[in-house]
Amino acid sequence: MNVVFLSPNYPPEMHEYVRGLAEVGARVYGVGDSPRNGLASKVKAALTDYLQVPGIMAEDDLIGRVVPWLRGTHIDRLETLWEPLVLVGARLRDRLGIPGMSFQTALGFRDKQLMKERVAAAGLRVPHSARVRTVAEALAAQQRIGFPLIIKPITGAGSADTYRCDDMSDFKAALVRMQHVREASCEEFVDGEEFTYDTICVDGKPVYENVAQYLPRPLIARTHEWISPVICTVRDLKQARLRAGLKLGRGVLQALGMTSGFTHMEWYLKSDGEVVFGEIGCRPGGAHLADQMNYTSDIDVFRGWASAVCHGRIGEQKPRKYNAAIVFKRALGRGRITRIEGLRAWKARCGDAVCVEQLLRPGQRRRNWLQTLVSDGHVIVRHPHWGTALKMAYDAAENIKMYAE
Ligand SMILES: Nc1ncnc2c1ncn2[C@@H]1O[C@H](COP(=O)(O)OP(=O)(O)O)[C@@H](O)[C@H]1O
Ligand SMILES: [Mg+2]
Repeated sequence: MNVVFLSPNYPPEMHEYVRGLAEVGARVYGVGDSPRNGLASKVKAALTDYLQVPGIMAEDDLIGRVVPWLRGTHIDRLETLWEPLVLVGARLRDRLGIPGMSFQTALGFRDKQLMKERVAAAGLRVPHSARVRTVAEALAAQQRIGFPLIIKPITGAGSADTYRCDDMSDFKAALVRMQHVREASCEEFVDGEEFTYDTICVDGKPVYENVAQYLPRPLIARTHEWISPVICTVRDLKQARLRAGLKLGRGVLQALGMTSGFTHMEWYLKSDGEVVFGEIGCRPGGAHLADQMNYTSDIDVFRGWASAVCHGRIGEQKPRKYNAAIVFKRALGRGRITRIEGLRAWKARCGDAVCVEQLLRPGQRRRNWLQTLVSDGHVIVRHPHWGTALKMAYDAAENIKMYAE
């Protein structure tokens, strides 16, 4: 089994996926723009060969280098788990005749308007929306959709350039701030709770499923710096509250022609019980969601994914034992971390429910919380009881305090 993997060294969680591929017996051909001698040791150990390219985002140049490099080697799969490379990966598959997701299918996982059209065509509920490229188009879309509405980039990420508008003055202000965005989606604002639906699929069928809840909703978490965002996987996927969301998720995979690999979908649960599609990517969720899945069931999803794409099965299925909550912390003040308060006491209160503590340390420079959800570090706690897991997560959110100067 020969597998080409785009960008094995960056972002850092890719190290685990290539490790997984090697562990399930694949020969891994890495392509990336990290220098060969800068590859993490785990990546070096997993790779059979590596092609260093000047820029992984320069699509035509990348294709022009990868195609001759692979000449004479039979390739079974071409994988990338990083959102910006999903389309070029699919173009390469099409070009080289490698099985897996085609460019046309991949577009449905990348273009937020097209994905909604394909999902709606299958009779599933999506927000009323329109693709807009000019102020005039945006104003016309607003007339049809009404207020409140959301305006966001067609290929956005991390809630960047995403605005909720409650009236015309909000909307006009958002349009001014979005001038650099080439294409946007205007959407009906869907009020409700927000969840993920994550899968590993084999030929479009989910062989692993996960649901997590965002607390609060990502757009709110990205609007107020004082919030410590929490994301908690849900142990019990059989509960009635999730039934419609899981059904929606499975329908979406079918509507979009999912093949094999990871998916990460977001959906909304309204107070009247209606579920609405949010968005989907054909890659895992970021910000340590894969680690949370592992802590939920004591599994190795990195290796499970590798086995699914190489061998068509993920191996042993393990029960979901915990709700695993991640809490992202943001320090008060600018510059470098000066002190952390409340961490030891929180750890003592939670005991072995604490799985991970990776907060920045005094002396380290703060990260840009608008650019990375991970912010100034995170903790993960888990508990079989939903309410207890959340209580411990909110305890960390409120009582661990980081300061910077
Ligand atoms: N139609 C909508 N109704 C309500 N909230 C929305 C809507 N679209 C986006 N949002 C909010 O904005 C966030 C980011 O939008 P999303 O489409 O998930 O893009 P991305 O995560 O790629 O930036 C969502 O998680 C949600 O909180
Ligand atoms: Mg999103």
